[in-house]
Amino acid sequence: MVKFNRRQFIILGAAGIGASLISHWLRRETFSQPVTSTSVSSAPLHQSQNGLLELNLEARESLVSLGNRKASLLTYNGQIPAPRLEAKPGDKVRIHFTNNLEQPTNIHYHGLHIPITGNADNVFLHIKPREKLTYEFQIPKNHPSGTFWYHPHLHGLVAEQLFGGLAGLFIVRGELDEMPELKAAQEEFLVLQDFSIDDHGNLSSSAHMSLMMGREGEIIAVNGQLNPSINLFQGGLLRLRILNASPSRFYRLDLKDHSFYSIATDGNSLNEPVEVNELLLTPGQRADVLIRGNQKSGQYHLLNLPYDRGSMGMMGGMMGRRNRDQPITLATINYTSTVNSLALPTKLNSISTLPEPQTVRRFELNHGMSPGVGMAFLINGKYYSSENLIDTEVQLNTVEDWDLINTGVMDHPFHVHGNAFQVVSRNGQPEPLLAWRDTVLVKKGETVRIRIPFEDFVGKTVYHCHILDHEDLGMMGNLMIQSNSA
Ligand code: C2O
Ligand code: CU
Ligand code: CU
Repeated sequence: MVKFNRRQFIILGAAGIGASLISHWLRRETFSQPVTSTSVSSAPLHQSQNGLLELNLEARESLVSLGNRKASLLTYNGQIPAPRLEAKPGDKVRIHFTNNLEQPTNIHYHGLHIPITGNADNVFLHIKPREKLTYEFQIPKNHPSGTFWYHPHLHGLVAEQLFGGLAGLFIVRGELDEMPELKAAQEEFLVLQDFSIDDHGNLSSSAHMSLMMGREGEIIAVNGQLNPSINLFQGGLLRLRILNASPSRFYRLDLKDHSFYSIATDGNSLNEPVEVNELLLTPGQRADVLIRGNQKSGQYHLLNLPYDRGSMGMMGGMMGRRNRDQPITLATINYTSTVNSLALPTKLNSISTLPEPQTVRRFELNHGMSPGVGMAFLINGKYYSSENLIDTEVQLNTVEDWDLINTGVMDHPFHVHGNAFQVVSRNGQPEPLLAWRDTVLVKKGETVRIRIPFEDFVGKTVYHCHILDHEDLGMMGNLMIQSNSA
């Protein structure tokens, strides 16, 4: 297990997992959400059988309970969060999808390394209301085990549909789960979503949202619950697999008197557990962490600490500030009985660095005026205007460095479909943690270099800011992965 010193902590803070020593004494009264004291639930599970994961999935508006209220949300199979899907490397997946929304939609399998064309992870499919489509793909035999997820991805409607509630976990079970230390741990999945509903339990309309800022809701739900409780055995290990399924909200998680032992970032495990005091999750990111039951008894709040992701102009700054100033309790960890002390795993993976490539591309992230659109979000000065334009063309079986340069005043979490990448440096400083990610935070004013191999699958896909309002407002590009055998 690695323990980082204070300076590395600060660097890591920028890496998405980090620690702030001062947060412990800066903490003030916690803005409390209603305490439901119900124990944490999990979404219905669909697992593969004999190498096949097959299910019906229907997108529709449904009346669901959200804490102690009823709300009319957008759901897959009537569930918030959507059913959890689990498959193994090599398995086939067949999802019979029906769109019973009032809008076109489609499904993206965030982080999975699967075909990006046809009826697989194809974000260019348009499934109209009342239409059906069967998604069909195979998870490669050498696919890493990890935490992935699925959500709608029809450009222009992504933020709205995700904010309605359409999101679910897609777990690939494999080697990591077979490790004795992890098998012995108690596993919980936490899907973090925020919602905005009116007095009648209807979703607030987009017209009332601050879309430039990125919409955030006043209700924060964990698996559709408000402040659920999670049991932890004294001496035991709790494995939390956390997904930020909010369209814009960042989560900065802190658990009093406990460290997080980070074992995976996004969909891939680290080489060894890394101890951190705080976890920052941008939209789209996942964390897989262990918590040791090293206290005697009591209740501990899993807090979401304030985070300033920047804003455009004074107004946004003041308005955005208000609800971000206070920590919010997301869940409560409850000590129960004692078990024989469980050990942390030591070696998890053997990630190696990638050789330095020849090709370096530049992606400048900013907002600006776009003709006929007005204020928009741009990559290299361009507004995403067509599914048919190719913004970036790469060759299969090559590796590239991408410089993500944020010259704007807001943070932008950058996401690439289909292939995971390694962060090489931030503002020229080498990244201390060797890890695979599919979404990386590029803070205002920051330059992040990522190294990305293009493997196995050709065709067209996208990269974009995962503040999904920014994506819908133009901060996306089309990526063509060309076969080089031709
Ligand atoms: Cu989770 Cu292109 O998105
Ligand atoms: Cu994605
Ligand atoms: Cu953005």
